[in-house]
Amino acid sequence: MTDQSSLPIGPRVIVALDLSSADAALDMARRLDPHRCRVKVGKELFATGGPLLVARLRSMGFEVFVDLKFHDIPHTVAGACRAAAADGAWMLDVHASGGRRMMEAAREALEPLRARPLLIAVTVLTSMDDADLAEVGIAASPEEQVLRLALLAKDSGMDGVVCSPREARLLRERCGPGFVLVTPGVRPSTAAADDQARIATPAEAIAAGSHYLVIGRPITQAVDPVAALASIIEQTVS
Ligand code: C5P
Repeated sequence: MTDQSSLPIGPRVIVALDLSSADAALDMARRLDPHRCRVKVGKELFATGGPLLVARLRSMGFEVFVDLKFHDIPHTVAGACRAAAADGAWMLDVHASGGRRMMEAAREALEPLRARPLLIAVTVLTSMDDADLAEVGIAASPEEQVLRLALLAKDSGMDGVVCSPREARLLRERCGPGFVLVTPGVRPSTAAADDQARIATPAEAIAAGSHYLVIGRPITQAVDPVAALASIIEQTVS
């Protein structure tokens, strides 16, 4: 849970624990320091570890981004957000393309909570490029589509959005300083892009105005994940 008025606070790197079992995720988490990073539980891990895993990570001192990218009718998404908040999520997300009513329902579901999680909306997945958007019937460029969805998300009561570092500068200008920008698609210059299409280095992401960097494989698949995280953190401090 977060004091919404003073972002970003605490660690800015969120390690994506995209591992296939709860045990593997907990092993990785044991090597990490909750004072140095937050962690993200995505779909694969949540499907296997569920709320219990989120609770275990929290008991180790981690703030947990429960990244389930809800996208459904408003009533269903509202219930899902309420449940994820009850699991103790520090941050949770929905798809902005679910539209205004869906995002407003998510926000209203969390409003009564005393300490609610940050609620952010995914704009365009960082794995998608122009051709991918065209194929699903979106004629806009990724940047245009991200801006459109970010403005809609802000207007619908979201605390921020997930975007690629390449759009962070534009969104920082257009959405203001308090709007949370969470950027996956971050790669140290020596790392492989993997399946990410719109990438930037940690330093570039921070300079562009990103609050939080979501980084998975460059840390979790490194020979020495602790050293990889330390090196990335160093690159985020100017
Ligand atoms: O391993 P890598 O650093 O590419 O992991 C990025 C993480 O961020 C993955 O868990 C992925 O699901 C998540 N993510 C993303 N693009 C988004 C939203 C979340 O890559 N738009």
